[in-house]
Amino acid sequence: MKTRITELFGIEHPIIQGGMHYVGFAELAAAVSNAGGLGIITGLTQKTPQDLAKEIARCHAMTDKPFGVNLTFLPIVTTPDYPGYIAAIVDGGVKIVETAGRNPQEYMPLLKKAGIKVIHKCTSVRHSLKAEAIGCDAVSVDGFECGGHPGEDDIPNMILLPRAADELKIPFVASGGMADARSLVAALAMGADGMNMGTRFIATKEAPVHDNVKQAIVAASELDTRLVMRGLRNTERVLNNSAVERLLEKEKALGDKLTFADVIAEVAGVYPKVMSEGLVDAGAWSCGMVAGLIHDIPTCKELIDRIMRDAETLIRKRLEGMLAG
Ligand SMILES: Cc1cc2nc3c(=O)[nH]c(=O)nc-3n(C[C@H](O)[C@H](O)[C@H](O)COP(=O)(O)O)c2cc1C
Repeated sequence: MKTRITELFGIEHPIIQGGMHYVGFAELAAAVSNAGGLGIITGLTQKTPQDLAKEIARCHAMTDKPFGVNLTFLPIVTTPDYPGYIAAIVDGGVKIVETAGRNPQEYMPLLKKAGIKVIHKCTSVRHSLKAEAIGCDAVSVDGFECGGHPGEDDIPNMILLPRAADELKIPFVASGGMADARSLVAALAMGADGMNMGTRFIATKEAPVHDNVKQAIVAASELDTRLVMRGLRNTERVLNNSAVERLLEKEKALGDKLTFADVIAEVAGVYPKVMSEGLVDAGAWSCGMVAGLIHDIPTCKELIDRIMRDAETLIRKRLEGMLAG
């Protein structure tokens, strides 16, 4: 399939694996890229720019296909060494960066000078237009369904994607709630040039996370996510568990008085415990509503091949068949 996104990134299939904290290591990025999609290493999971340089080198050793690095600009107490991370990306020969969180304007000159294509993750049309205005090459439009940070507008993809299509000139991928060929074909129908998946890629053989995490996603239904940190305007969609229930009780009790210090126990330092040690109840970790559509743990190649095969059948048989009357 050829779209503006496959052309822009030099990939075979219009499927991207979004950056994920403590999930987006070289093993997953390489597996997705080798399967014809675009794999992405999560920059900030690497503690220093030197560690990121090593991770990029590991990924190059596992694939000769294009892959990207995610740089997330979230409210973190101490600002990471972003120029250092960008230097590691440039020196590592990576040509695609997925940015997220705050807009990346400050770093655009550095990225553009190195010939890097930037895809910015946005949860609204206005942020997407801003990304276009500051020179991003594409956007990843994240609907309210998404795992991670859906923003504060609460607009699901059924509305957000056609709205983005109406306003944007640069290509965009649909993100949030994407799992299979139905997601891809629907996303294309609504004006996207591909799709980005997070949660679905965690439940794959190559995702370098503890099996407990994969099983928890397979066991979860679309009813099992919760929104935490709304009161802090840092909303995160997470898989429900005992720690999340405790956190929500606290949020309810404190109301407007909630501060970041009140949520630290349930959100800080959780990812290594969950993803590496498999302690899935250790705290709040991102997961999309799409868990309700995930029932197996295929390889990335099996997953992507299945999506592309089924998408073709959907388009040629179901949709064309309807037109044929
Ligand atoms: C466990 C997990 C960790 C994530 N970490 C990040 C991150 O560090 N930076 C980022 O930009 N997005 C992060 N995301 C968001 C994903 O890249 C992607 O946008 C989102 O998962 C799409 O929604 P979906 O889960 O419904 O596919 C994370 C998502 C998950 C599920």
